[in-house]
Amino acid sequence: MSIFNSLSCSIFVALVLIGEAFLLSRAQDPSRLSLSYYSKTCPTAQDIVRSEMDCAVKTNPRNAAFMIRLHFHDCFVQGCDGSVLLDDTATLIGEKHADQNVNSIQGFELVDKIKEKLEAACPGVVSCADVLAIAARDATILVGGPYWDVPVGRLDSKTASVDLANSDIPTPQQPLATLIAKFLEKGLSVTDMVALVGSHTVGMSRCVNFRERIYGGDFQLTSKNEPSSQANLAKLKDVCPADGGDDNVSGMDYYSPTVFDNAFFETLLQGSGVLSSDQEMYSSLLGFQTSRIVDKYWADAALFFKDFADGMVKMGNITNPQGGEVRKNCRFINI
Ligand code: HEM
Ligand SMILES: *[C@@H]1O[C@H](CO)[C@@H](O)[C@H](O)[C@H]1NC(C)=O
Ligand SMILES: *[C@@H]1O[C@H](CO)[C@@H](O)[C@H](O)[C@H]1NC(C)=O
Repeated sequence: MSIFNSLSCSIFVALVLIGEAFLLSRAQDPSRLSLSYYSKTCPTAQDIVRSEMDCAVKTNPRNAAFMIRLHFHDCFVQGCDGSVLLDDTATLIGEKHADQNVNSIQGFELVDKIKEKLEAACPGVVSCADVLAIAARDATILVGGPYWDVPVGRLDSKTASVDLANSDIPTPQQPLATLIAKFLEKGLSVTDMVALVGSHTVGMSRCVNFRERIYGGDFQLTSKNEPSSQANLAKLKDVCPADGGDDNVSGMDYYSPTVFDNAFFETLLQGSGVLSSDQEMYSSLLGFQTSRIVDKYWADAALFFKDFADGMVKMGNITNPQGGEVRKNCRFINI
């Protein structure tokens, strides 16, 4: 099966290489994204990303979670401009060592791989920021989530900001009011926030991010004392000892961490969300609005899917007013 997959990947790429020999010049309004942005300059762009994502997610479903989160951490810092992908150099400090990124965000090799295929087919055309946007959508479908059309035409930044990454990316310890404010600042509503955080239905959290919650009494406070929450707490304590094992991981959706569904919201209803920030949306005294949305998404997966897709398009629409370039290598600005 896996030999078959990698074989079909390389055949596909060979076909794409033959098909794409020349480029048209590109005209663009940097403030506007469109669905047809690459239709003349790189008509196979979407297929190339899809094909690579297909292989990557079949190999390891967590690759889907990596791409969704990278797109989020990109868009919340200077807009969706590929800044999160930049490596540190002598003249540039990247965002990879920011508090919420260091030892945490992953998937850079996969981005490199997708970008290499795109460069082979259409050199210098498809931005790294767009790669993340398309890959995040494909990631979502490939693990069972909704489809949406991805507006494209983003440019890659020539700068990064570790300070903005530290200030603008929400942290799991922050209270609900702070989390909401951080989304509002980016033009995203409370509904967008709850829907987007619903992507915690896939992927893992490290013990260091939930130790306080399980040993500090917070978990017992929110949990409904049902057998399921007690079982969840026991599982978390197994993975995450009071001391050590900082990098041990648990799914944020205990039930199906490799499937994009609405089971994550059930964990919040039980009071057994893994991250304090997740549980806040249901249990905070200020959570009258967010808890109703959580209830709705648990009752209606189709509504969650629709709002998630809309939220991703809105988040993906945050632009960097500085404009930029199309990087050849996502890790470095062009010279
Ligand atoms: C209230 C806002 C949010 C907070 C505080 C938050 C926090 C976190 C934390 C602490 C982790 C675990 C990281 C680790 O242990 O290394 C995580 C993982 C993840 N987050 Fe969020 N997040 C938020 C919103 C979002 C949004 C808006 C998205 C995407 C649209 C997202 C997507 C993900 C994904 C997919 C993972 C799993 C990554 C993996 O498996 O490595 N998160 N988040
Ligand atoms: C978690 O980490 C601890 C300490 O490093 C280790 O002994 C334990 O086996 C780990 N548990 C899991 C479930 O990975
Ligand atoms: C995206 O941004 C543009 C320009 O800022 C705006 O006109 C458009 O309505 C936005 N689209 C979405 C879906 O938010």
